[in-house]
Amino acid sequence: MKPAEKFLAVCTDDLEWEDGTRVIGLPPGVEVKIVAEGSDGVSERVDKFVRFPAGYTEPLHIHDHLHSTLVIEGEMHVHGKILKPGDFVFGGPGEQHGPFHYPVGCTVFSCSRAEKMNQIHRNPQSERGTDLTKGY
Ligand SMILES: [Fe+2]
Repeated sequence: MKPAEKFLAVCTDDLEWEDGTRVIGLPPGVEVKIVAEGSDGVSERVDKFVRFPAGYTEPLHIHDHLHSTLVIEGEMHVHGKILKPGDFVFGGPGEQHGPFHYPVGCTVFSCSRAEKMNQIHRNPQSERGTDLTKGY
């Protein structure tokens, strides 16, 4: 991972949405816009927008990084709560969380950190495999 920028100002409309299945390993339909990433000598980081289409479900998952996630558009239904713009989710490293439901669609801003970043999401209950993009 390249060194992190010390200062960055970004017009996010200039950035392209990418296939979230390829970038973060979630089931098809999700899109990701990476704003900043890099290593600062303490940790690696990826700061990004994630856009979920209406009706999408992000399955129960686990990953090695932590993330701080802010809802900025739409709704995230999780753990008995309906989160709206301004609401927040923290996912700790190695801690399973979800499923997250997005009945009306949702865009979040999510900052991920780890000593060594691996953004691929895994299913902690799988006996057949760990690849969420293939439904298991
Ligand atoms: Fe997560």
